[in-house]
Amino acid sequence: MTIGVIGGSGIYEALPLENTRTEDVSTPYGEPSESVTLGELAGREVAFLPRHGADHQHTPTDASYRANIYALKSVGVDRVISTNAVGSLREDLPPRTLVVPDQIFDRTKHRSPTFFGDGMVVHMGFADPYCPEMVHHLASAAEDAVDDTVVERGGTYVCIEGPQFSTKAESEFYRSQGWDVVGMTTIPEAKLAREAELSYATVTGITDYDVWKEDSEVSLQEVLENAAANQDAINAVIERAIRTIPEDFESEAWSALEGTINTPTEAIPEETRE
Ligand code: ADE
Repeated sequence: MTIGVIGGSGIYEALPLENTRTEDVSTPYGEPSESVTLGELAGREVAFLPRHGADHQHTPTDASYRANIYALKSVGVDRVISTNAVGSLREDLPPRTLVVPDQIFDRTKHRSPTFFGDGMVVHMGFADPYCPEMVHHLASAAEDAVDDTVVERGGTYVCIEGPQFSTKAESEFYRSQGWDVVGMTTIPEAKLAREAELSYATVTGITDYDVWKEDSEVSLQEVLENAAANQDAINAVIERAIRTIPEDFESEAWSALEGTINTPTEAIPEETRE
């Protein structure tokens, strides 16, 4: 197995990887946000990519989502642990809580959500947008890895376009739907991971109460401070998840394209097709 990790560059620095090397992967979708860093942890192969580039130079809209997923697939990744900063839509989920969501509501507008197109139409099941096996595994790793941090298992991540935060009307609407966290980056990553038949889930770290809560303005300073504070917990969760992913892990995502209208094409790297 090769485990992909997508997140901020702080994770890579914190993971005790051995035998590290970098690979520059070129893709039909442009350059990935960085070279892929490969290494070993507890005898497992890990491939790391910072979503926004090492210097955080890509916005949530123009991050290289397709190239990143393509690059991870090309180096042999079959399961992906992602991480995102999010705002909370629930009073009982304060900043510095970790949430492993199991649902997504997509409010993005300007992102390519598919590897297909150009005459190729692929309608793929996406009812469970995160791989349930990986959600379960990641949530268990989170519960075991961090004693002093609250971990919420499951929940709905509403993904907005950004880069602006939400208006109060939007934030109150999301709350009224019963959604749990709001962020800007799980879409199209989760859709592309499924098209690439990768098992994918994310551990999110809450940085703020979004703007529905009285006196909450979502200041950049608050977000950055809490993101930094969440980082240690998230690093511990990812390390634990890598060390403990069971060998007999079985993901339905690995056959996501079976039974779809079209079969995989050159959109997916040839060497990884069945
Ligand atoms: N990322 C961190 N906090 C956020 C918020 N309140 N809305 C959207 N994305 C976020």
